[in-house]
Amino acid sequence: MAVGIFDSGLGGLTVLDAVSKRLPDVEFVYFADSAHAPYGVRTADDIYNLTCAAVERLWAEGCDLVILACNTASAAALRRMQESWLPADKRVLGVFVPLIEALTERNWGDNSPPREVGVKHVALFATPATVASRAFQRELAFRAIGVDVEAQACGGVVDAIEEGDMILAEALVRSHVDALKRKMPHPQAAVLGCTHYPLMQDTFQQALGPEVSVFSQAGLVAESLADYLTRHPDMTGAGHTAFLTTGDPKRVSDRATQVLRRQIAFQAA
Ligand code: DGL
Repeated sequence: MAVGIFDSGLGGLTVLDAVSKRLPDVEFVYFADSAHAPYGVRTADDIYNLTCAAVERLWAEGCDLVILACNTASAAALRRMQESWLPADKRVLGVFVPLIEALTERNWGDNSPPREVGVKHVALFATPATVASRAFQRELAFRAIGVDVEAQACGGVVDAIEEGDMILAEALVRSHVDALKRKMPHPQAAVLGCTHYPLMQDTFQQALGPEVSVFSQAGLVAESLADYLTRHPDMTGAGHTAFLTTGDPKRVSDRATQVLRRQIAFQAA
């Protein structure tokens, strides 16, 4: 049994990279729904249906535990999947909670009532669907009080990264940061609420300025998965690393190889 890692495209590779470094003995099966990316401009129903189909494909690979390394799916589909669809012997985990726990200075699973935290002004950069869901603000409100969140929907960035047009992606990031700063001139922290955005982390940091702490998910998700697997060792075991895509395997492999700077070979899902 391997652990499944799902994203609409290449962004989840930032999470895969961190989890496979943190857990070198665990086998991971990565699923990129490249034919349907980007998810961020789709309706919640569409995202739910596509995410369920991808997770079922990962179950067929023996992955009883699947990480949605996609904020858009975590925001728009995860709760509905957990409440009404997921069988008792399977687990699907999202990427929001580890990040919000870090931002609100909590340890894993600390469910004590919301309290004041150090950070008061937070910029959230995410896809249009994630911003529209308000899932980040909802999860934050369970844990913290008095935090002002300004969300910026970063249209176009995922498409540009998927196309390999990093110059366009950089220009779009700068314009989205400018737009955010017009609404919130001095954020203390910025959350990269899309797993594609760590690929542009330097551009975000430069545009935001050195005084802004930029939170991204990969390392936090890796720590939280390590902790989860210590408590649920039965959710992993023997299995085979694989990279599956609904897109063109050659094209996706070339882009993934550039992103991870190591040879990656995708096969048709
Ligand atoms: N990496 C996905 C996320 O974290 C991108 C979503 C998309 O395909 O628009 O939200």
